Amino acid sequence: MWTTAEIPGQEGKNVIVTGANSGIGYETALALYLAGANVTLACRDQGKAEQAKANMEQRSGPGSLEIGVLDLADLDSVRLFAETYLQQHTQLDVLVNNAGVGTPPAGMTRQGWEYTFGVNFLGPFALTGRLYLLLEATPGSRVVTVSSFAYVRGVIDFDNLKSEKGYDAGREYGQNKLADLMFTIELDRRVRAQGHQVVSIAAQPGANSTEITRHSTEEQVAAMKERFGGFMEPWQGALPSLYAAVSSEATAGNLYEPHENGVKGYPAKADIQAVALDETVAKKLWNVAEEATGVVYPE
Ligand SMILES: NC(=O)c1ccc[n+]([C@@H]2O[C@H](COP(=O)([O-])OP(=O)(O)OC[C@H]3O[C@@H](n4cnc5c(N)ncnc54)[C@H](OP(=O)(O)O)[C@@H]3O)[C@@H](O)[C@H]2O)c1
Repeated sequence: MWTTAEIPGQEGKNVIVTGANSGIGYETALALYLAGANVTLACRDQGKAEQAKANMEQRSGPGSLEIGVLDLADLDSVRLFAETYLQQHTQLDVLVNNAGVGTPPAGMTRQGWEYTFGVNFLGPFALTGRLYLLLEATPGSRVVTVSSFAYVRGVIDFDNLKSEKGYDAGREYGQNKLADLMFTIELDRRVRAQGHQVVSIAAQPGANSTEITRHSTEEQVAAMKERFGGFMEPWQGALPSLYAAVSSEATAGNLYEPHENGVKGYPAKADIQAVALDETVAKKLWNVAEEATGVVYPE
């Protein structure tokens, strides 16, 4: 049973956690701060980020905390965040692509992509690409991308990325959590092919009580709780991300999740379902993302 007690000292390490003001991202950032890391809380709302930072600092960890404003629904904001980070830091040990939306109302990103696709996939793709050279220059660096057990019902519909066929919140969520897992695996393939050293790993937190359900009705949340036999608290849902970020047992191209059916428990290596291992779809998705974001990963 792996817990935060096993996190090795993180002194001298630079970490970015996106969506660190809430839920699983908050707990991920807090645990790494308490282990001694310099953690950048990458959040879209400065006020919420400051509140989260103040709450974490009350725990008087040995690490340090910074705030960076990052709105994944706006690729200009992603570029600005990355440029600022690159100006101010000479190493990046861990990037945790945690931020995400669940089932928001229909909407579009600033650049005109379906909102969930933009926030949950294009934004993290662009962010990782813009920080890639710094990651590659930092020995032992890792990119942890947070997916969901919902990926198994995902289908990448290349003809609906701008909501051409209309919006279905559950369908888009499954698609984009699948996209996150495919991104992780394709990034790992590319890293290996190029002889680079960045380690790309996926995590999924299981079923947790967080604000991810903020757009669901009480009845929907109750039905989910019943289906999963209750929710875990976010500190426990953060363990797979933390394991992927720091454990020497976590290896590239894999997915870590709670050991009880991927829904509850402690971090374990998942059996990745075939839908996420389709290399043709993954490469097509990568090309779409490069074109959509204008971010081309260094060869
Ligand atoms: N909770 C679960 O049971 C569960 C299950 C499977 C997967 N996940 C995944 O776990 C990750 C964390 O979710 P959570 O459960 O902790 O939910 P949460 O409490 O709602 O936290 C989501 C975080 O993402 C941020 N975010 C949303 N839109 C953003 C944007 N456009 N730009 C930057 N940040 C944005 C939120 O910021 P604001 O507070 O400003 O909105 C918040 O900090 C997500 O990727 C989610 O898909 C969660």
